Amino acid sequence: MSFDPDKSPPRPELFDFQGVSMTHYFTDNWENIQNFQARPDDILIATYPKAGTTWVSYILDLLYFGETEHQKDVPIYDRVAFLDIFIPSVLSGTDMVDNLATSPRIIKTHFPVQFIPKSFWEKNCRVVYVARNAKDNVVSYFHFDRMNIAQPEAGDWSNYLHRFMGGKVVYGSWHNHVNGWWKKKQTYAKLHYMFYEDLAEDTGREIDKLCCFLGLSRSDEVKKRVTNGVHFDNMKKDNMANYSTNPFMDFKISPFMRKGKVGDWKNHFSAAQSEQFDEDYEKKMTDVTLQFRSEI
Ligand code: PPS
Repeated sequence: MSFDPDKSPPRPELFDFQGVSMTHYFTDNWENIQNFQARPDDILIATYPKAGTTWVSYILDLLYFGETEHQKDVPIYDRVAFLDIFIPSVLSGTDMVDNLATSPRIIKTHFPVQFIPKSFWEKNCRVVYVARNAKDNVVSYFHFDRMNIAQPEAGDWSNYLHRFMGGKVVYGSWHNHVNGWWKKKQTYAKLHYMFYEDLAEDTGREIDKLCCFLGLSRSDEVKKRVTNGVHFDNMKKDNMANYSTNPFMDFKISPFMRKGKVGDWKNHFSAAQSEQFDEDYEKKMTDVTLQFRSEI
């Protein structure tokens, strides 16, 4: 990715796009994205932003290619193509996918389920959805928006929290996102819905489940190596996993690999904010079959 941060454009505006708050970076390539042709063995990693995309991307990358291909000089955001993005003369997600030389191709998206190109469903592709509890998710997103010049300004925490609750952040409402994908799981068999908190609790167990879903047989030794390689401390110091090579991010403000914890929200929410958030949450999260853990 070549980009001169000194010539950076202003931060993008948020606008309503088909009922979802978006910025032009994720809508400008709409036609190409909607007409995107998936391959049957493509694997799609779908998440609301900051739910554990990079963690699961790295797990899949290591499971598929760890034994055969280099990890040493290609950042994870180039190995796993971000379908949604379009930055004129810098980056196009659909081109990135077309140029992926790996088989299978691992593709990531933050789109809500209704925005996914229909080819993925027609080709019956495997989809891994990762969800994270709303409170940790919003904290992580707040720090990300502070440090990433390709995102709208975060503003202060209290204001950000209210915008998040109202779905006025990029990719819209967290509640609609996790609920929409949960509903899809009821009718689409090749969707593996997983939780950040489960990964944090027992990474090895979740890798076993992923292998089962993907139809992969990997030795205990390989799985152990993957589990160790994707530990937060290891990914944080791995320049191919920690986004330190990404020109849009200012690590002086906040690192991409920030804390990697379940429950960090307690360091940000006041008691009143937590109460208000919970009240709003109860109204929006009415499907009792979808349960999150905000501590483990
Ligand atoms: S993005 O920009 O949407 O792709 O971000 P995403 O990768 O989804 O989320 C970033 C958060 O995930 C944390 N993370 C991890 N936590 C634990 N273990 C590992 N290995 C790991 N890798 C990434 C990362 O630190 C961000 O969370 P916060 O809470 O901000 O630390």
